[in-house]
Amino acid sequence: DIKGFVFDLDGVITDTSVFHSQAWHQVADKVGVTWDDELADALKGISRMDSLNLILKKDHKENDFSEAEKEALATEKNDNYLKLVNQMTPANILPGIQDFLATVKAKGYLLSLASASKNSPLVLKKLGLSDYFPKAVDPATLTHGKPDPEIFRRGAEILDLQPGECIGVEDAAAGVQSINAAGETSIGIGDPQILSAAAINFTDTTQLTLANIQQRLA
Ligand code: G6P
Ligand code: MG
Repeated sequence: DIKGFVFDLDGVITDTSVFHSQAWHQVADKVGVTWDDELADALKGISRMDSLNLILKKDHKENDFSEAEKEALATEKNDNYLKLVNQMTPANILPGIQDFLATVKAKGYLLSLASASKNSPLVLKKLGLSDYFPKAVDPATLTHGKPDPEIFRRGAEILDLQPGECIGVEDAAAGVQSINAAGETSIGIGDPQILSAAAINFTDTTQLTLANIQQRLA
């Protein structure tokens, strides 16, 4: 029986995946790496430093920067990102998400957050959703990022649930892999080709309802 939902944040609860992309795009331009949609998708769910390394690798620039220079580029990206986050309001919650959270909470399902972002507490606060997620995995404590199962496993553990009792909700291919490897039921929200490993695929957040989930699991 499903007893809890483990949520990704960026690109699922809110449209911040666009902000992450914009902020990285500026850094890519600066270091002379060409930006494209494929790179943007590959970065979804990936930690800050791993993202920078992927960007540099794309045009074989991974050895062109010292660790200190990389730290500075990562900080610059985060500064770009925070400028966008600071303008956020509850209007940035993706359609249907607030209703879904309210419904599952009222029905007694448990909720936790499994976001790789160190900015997730701030983002939840800007959205007015902090109260739904008193339980969140702290990404600073992780040994491995998505697609490793660690983060989604911990998302179940902090709810005192077994992975088999949880549904994980993701917009990233790496995130869906993490959910599957953790032994949870995966919902992928977005392009069904990119998220083909998901147990359930919804093309957008308006389809995320308990009725639709029950229908797909039946
Ligand atoms: C999420 C986003 C990624 C981002 C990562 C780290 O997984 O999907 O795009 O790189 O969090 O975010 P942070 O806010 O800590 O740089
Ligand atoms: Mg995401």
